[in-house]
Amino acid sequence: MTAFHTLDDVDVKGKRVLLRVDLNVPMEDGRVTDATRIERALPTINEIVEKGGRVILLSHFGRPKGQRVDAESLRQVVPTLEHVLKRKIAFADDCVGDAAAKIVDGLKDGEVALLENTRFHKGEEKNAADFIDALAKSGDIFVSDAFSAAHRAHASTEGIAHRLPAYAGRAMQAELEALESALANPQRPVMAIVGGAKVSTKLELLGNLVAKVEYLVIGGGMANTFLAAQGKPVGKSLCEHDLADAAREILVKSEKAGCEVVLPIDAIVAQKFEAHAPSHIVSVDHVGENDMILDVGPKSIAHIESLLANCKTLVWNGPFGAFELPPFDEGTNAVAQTAARLTVEGKLLSIAGGGDTVAALNQAHVAQEFSYVSTAGGAFLEWLEGKTLPGVAALMQSSQR
Ligand code: 3PG
Ligand code: MG
Repeated sequence: MTAFHTLDDVDVKGKRVLLRVDLNVPMEDGRVTDATRIERALPTINEIVEKGGRVILLSHFGRPKGQRVDAESLRQVVPTLEHVLKRKIAFADDCVGDAAAKIVDGLKDGEVALLENTRFHKGEEKNAADFIDALAKSGDIFVSDAFSAAHRAHASTEGIAHRLPAYAGRAMQAELEALESALANPQRPVMAIVGGAKVSTKLELLGNLVAKVEYLVIGGGMANTFLAAQGKPVGKSLCEHDLADAAREILVKSEKAGCEVVLPIDAIVAQKFEAHAPSHIVSVDHVGENDMILDVGPKSIAHIESLLANCKTLVWNGPFGAFELPPFDEGTNAVAQTAARLTVEGKLLSIAGGGDTVAALNQAHVAQEFSYVSTAGGAFLEWLEGKTLPGVAALMQSSQR
């Protein structure tokens, strides 16, 4: 089991707890459109509050690159945060200096404050020592609950964990435990589904997965690159022809590793990339010159589902087809629903993550049924690539001091 300290290892009563969360939530017209990341932080915040600690929330928001940008102020998140938490929070106009000190000094046990966007300071992304010191003035201990930002070696995600005694919050703990049970120490057979548009962004990930799973199902635009590399016609489909060699290398590597790569055997094709474009089913050997592959076909779905029925673990990143354009979401929906059913029946541990994936699972109304859905995008991908995430590594090191 991974070694990091958790909230079980510290008495937070009366302590100022600097809690790194990921409040980088989607917003439209000044309103939060998806509060999932805020909700995930709730158990840790409530636990610290109930134990009489003082919670000082730290987060980035957007990419203001060291400038103060009003449109990227965390003040906008306060109403949703108060609504989800069901309590008032104090907001500090700056995450360091006098503005932060004033709010933090005024906090009583069991109260919560939010400090302004850490990325308003250049020191955040530079992981600069003086900025880390300035942040650390507001806390006695550091707790990280922001797995989704843990791929960044920034001051508030990594540096500060070396400066203050550091602990994993409950969301971080749940995330790490779920991810470990999916790939580090899984029940076999394991299936990985990797979809999305481009192979180029997922080469490392595919290379890592073939050594770890029994079945690697490739979907989405990426599958076209593999089909083309095998000499199949892909018409006008999204395809990275220049990556044919890389795709073939992955196929060779997977064969050596005893991993079966599962590619589509049939496809739904259309001549326009739009919702409800006239479409039909073809075998992947007969995609027409003007066709675009927009989803997997029924035989592919049935094949994937029959393999999945024998798997114990599923890790999923990336949709099969153009899921944002109905009816080309059918392949993704069908497999997602089967995975959800097997999970509910207790036969499958299902873990999914990545921006599009979560949206696709929500659209298929199955996100609640999956064993674990990560809200992380880049961090989830880097973890699938087998990389060490700096924000996680710092927690491990802190536990060894
Ligand atoms: C995310 O939304 O993926 C995380 O909050 C990290 O944001 P970043 O990609 O701007 O570092
Ligand atoms: Mg990102």
